[in-house]
Amino acid sequence: MAKALAVKPDYGVDAPAVMRNLFLIGGFLWLLVFITPAHIHIGPADLLFHYPLAWTGSFLLVEGFLFLIYVKFGKFRHRDFMLSLYRWRGDERVLDVGCGRGLLLAGAAKLVPDGHATGIDVWSNVDMGANSAEATQHNLDLEGIAGRCSLVSAGAQQMPFEDATFDVIVSNLCLHNIYDKPTRQRALAEIARVLRPGGLALISDYKLTTAYAAQFREMGFVVTMKWGSFATTFPPLRVVIARKP
Ligand SMILES: C[S@@+](CC[C@H](N)C(=O)[O-])C[C@H]1O[C@@H](n2cnc3c(N)ncnc32)[C@H](O)[C@@H]1O
Repeated sequence: MAKALAVKPDYGVDAPAVMRNLFLIGGFLWLLVFITPAHIHIGPADLLFHYPLAWTGSFLLVEGFLFLIYVKFGKFRHRDFMLSLYRWRGDERVLDVGCGRGLLLAGAAKLVPDGHATGIDVWSNVDMGANSAEATQHNLDLEGIAGRCSLVSAGAQQMPFEDATFDVIVSNLCLHNIYDKPTRQRALAEIARVLRPGGLALISDYKLTTAYAAQFREMGFVVTMKWGSFATTFPPLRVVIARKP
């Protein structure tokens, strides 16, 4: 039977298996604490077994809840924070690298009524739940901005765009998913290539941001970095702000 299409935009769950495992393993460790009878005693069994299990289980459950807060609320605040780092004219050509289900892409498209927003992705379902060009297109339709958006199915490391095509390039939680360092570096070089001189790249990630900044500096960009909110982004996200000379 065909799946009913959502009537509200749904920007999905990032890394769904990670979230599931945090709750499953955390819950399982607490179950072990409760089903083993010695949990009521204070003694060697508690010190060696129950306390480490309880602490580790609690740690994983707290991480799971913080991640859930990011997915449900924090990522919208982080998107707004990222987009506030650039002063929009309204006619820019924007690229969202690893757009997933279109969170940043839709946000940027709303800021460029006379411009165009392009999202590029390989639609990995490991990195983003129920990820597909169709799901993203449906979100863009529901947001009423499909007319000034396009989706491209390709990897960040080999983009099918001319040099200097975009005024602004944004990316959130994408590049760390390219595990191989030379390929990741090629993706950053591609971002530099397709950005116009004077254009701005805003690259947000939870790790490797120092390496991204160093590579941009080597390519002659002027680079600063800013942390997102520690209250609502988990894991904490840092944005590399790189201006092309
Ligand atoms: C965690 S999701 C984040 C999606 C979106 N940026 C957001 O913040 O909601 C990471 C996205 O990067 C995409 N991705 C992973 N490797 C990629 C690559 N080599 N080129 C383009 N996109 C990639 C995945 O398919 C996924 O959509």
